Amino acid sequence: MDYVEEIRKMKLQKNAIILAHYYQVGEIQDLADFVGDSLALSQKAASTDAEIILFAGVRFMAETAKILSPHKKVLLPDIEAGCSLADSCSEEDFRKFIKDNPGRTVVTYINTNIEIKALSDIICTSSNASEIIRSLPPDEKILFAPDRNLGNYILNKTGRDMVIWNGTCHIHEEFSLEAILQLKSEHPEAKVIVHPECELPVRMVADYIGSTAGMLRFTENDAGRVFIVATEAGIIHQMKKINPEKEFIPAPPRDSTCGCSECNFMKLVTVEKIFRCLRDEEPEILIDEKILEQAGKPIGRMMELSRKIGL
Ligand code: 13P
Repeated sequence: MDYVEEIRKMKLQKNAIILAHYYQVGEIQDLADFVGDSLALSQKAASTDAEIILFAGVRFMAETAKILSPHKKVLLPDIEAGCSLADSCSEEDFRKFIKDNPGRTVVTYINTNIEIKALSDIICTSSNASEIIRSLPPDEKILFAPDRNLGNYILNKTGRDMVIWNGTCHIHEEFSLEAILQLKSEHPEAKVIVHPECELPVRMVADYIGSTAGMLRFTENDAGRVFIVATEAGIIHQMKKINPEKEFIPAPPRDSTCGCSECNFMKLVTVEKIFRCLRDEEPEILIDEKILEQAGKPIGRMMELSRKIGL
């Protein structure tokens, strides 16, 4: 069966849209109606007229789409597609963290499970994190979770009073500084582009640090011809599409045998699962109304602020 053709037909019949993150395999990115980073995908989920949103990504992204479009049917082709970073922050531990650090505004990165969003004052993504923090009064005390690398990156940029949860992404913490430096010595002209979830030593050798969409824009606008890419390798598909004449080298992980610059959760989504998911209209993201409403407030604040800033 030609799954891609069948998916295209069903999308029209059912008035469905496929949203895909840059970390999906190239075939899925090409099949999607919209490919983006976490913020752009949220904005698209909020504004689409489609009746069904099929999310080719991980669970927290599909949950965010449901928060933003609660009356739409949101589908996730593999319900096991979680996130190591989101899972590093359980509701029970996070409640305790807030209690142990009273009087702080709770800013959380979008890579969390919905219960954590419901406990937050405002959400951010990697493309608006610094702006969200700067939008708070200068003397405001902040609690940031769950990514310690993104947290420290914004702390250094903004100089704000922040306590930071000790979570990491299993892909971004694994990049090897030594291997990147080795690649740099082999390709002295190469620019190193880095996601802010990477550890400090890797961020220190970066020519550019930003969200996946920011990294993509950088490869388009920069005169460089070779780029060492320190984020999940799926984005290289989009980089090559936009810049066919440029070269992209995935930054190697510390363990060169593990292939771990590929997110195993993101890669649980396949074209065949998308076909079945759209045909059967499940797995569907279903969330208790109260949690949906609570999590909607901090997400709403992020969306409003991003709009005001022009992001
Ligand atoms: P962005 O989509 O904001 O670049 O973040 C990707 C991500 O989830 C990294 O783990």
